[in-house]
Amino acid sequence: MKNSTHKLLEQKGKRRISMLTAYDFHTACTIDEAGIDMILVGDSLGNVMLGYENTLAVTVEDMIHHGKAVCRGAKNAFVVIDMPFMSYQGSVYDAVMNAGRILKETNCQAVKLEGGAEYADRIRAIVQAGIPVVAHLGLTPQSFNTLGGYKVQGKSLAVAQKLLADAQAVTEAGAFAITLECVPEALAKLITERTSALTIGIGAGKYCDGQVLVYQDMLGYTDGFTPKFVKKYADLHSVMLEAFKQYKAECEAQTFPAPEHTFGIDDEVMGKLY
Ligand code: KIV
Repeated sequence: MKNSTHKLLEQKGKRRISMLTAYDFHTACTIDEAGIDMILVGDSLGNVMLGYENTLAVTVEDMIHHGKAVCRGAKNAFVVIDMPFMSYQGSVYDAVMNAGRILKETNCQAVKLEGGAEYADRIRAIVQAGIPVVAHLGLTPQSFNTLGGYKVQGKSLAVAQKLLADAQAVTEAGAFAITLECVPEALAKLITERTSALTIGIGAGKYCDGQVLVYQDMLGYTDGFTPKFVKKYADLHSVMLEAFKQYKAECEAQTFPAPEHTFGIDDEVMGKLY
C-alpha cells in the first residue's frame, strides 16, 4: 500500500521514518523493495547525476524527467520531488504552477522547497491547491551564496531562534514535514518537539522523526569528499572500479565474450554465405 501523508504523520513519536534520494527507475525499485518509507528526488541530482558544481542550474524539466522514472519504480514509498532554484522564489503563482506541473507530470506525492517564514505564503498556496509540501530548513543549498557556503546552521542564538520561528511558520502554513539539514542535534530535537510536522534530518542528529541521505553518499559511489554526517553503508566505487578494470582487461585479452555469452548459427547456413 502506498504511503500517504496521514500514515507518515501517524508515525511521529512512534517509529522513525527512513528516506533516501533516488533519481532513476532501478534505484527507486531497490529502495522501495527495501521498505524505505520515503524517496526524495532531490535537486542534488545537479551534483550527483548531472555533474554540476551546485544545484542552481537544475530545471523543472530535469526534476520532472527524473521524477517520472522514480515514481514508476516506487510502488509503496512516498515520493517527494524538489522544486528547483527559481521555480518558486519569484511569486506565489510560479510556486503553485510549478508544483502543480511536477505533481501532474510525475505522479509524485509531494514537493519540497527550501526556506522558512519568507516562503510561508508559497507553502500555504501549494497546500491549498491540494499538493502536500515538505519544507527545508537549516543549510539550504540553493542559498549557498547568501549563506556564505555550506555550513552548519543554528549555532548562534539569533539563527537558532530564527530556525525555531521558521519551523513554526512553515508548519502553520501547512507543511507536513520539514527537512532539517546541518542543524545541531539539540536544536533539531527542540524543533522536533515543538512542531507537529515530521522532521527529517540530514546532519541533524538522532532526535529527528526521520533521516534522509543521498543514496550515492551512503553507498560510497564516489571516492570524493564525504560530509561528516554521512555513514557509508557500502563501497560501490571500489566494486564498480574493479569491475570496469576487469572488463577492459578481458576485452583486450579476448576472454570476454566467452562461449556462454555468444549466439551460434548452423555451419550449413554459414557455409552458404562464403
Ligand atoms: O537535494 C537533496 O538531495 C536534498 C537532501 C540533501 C535533503 O535536499
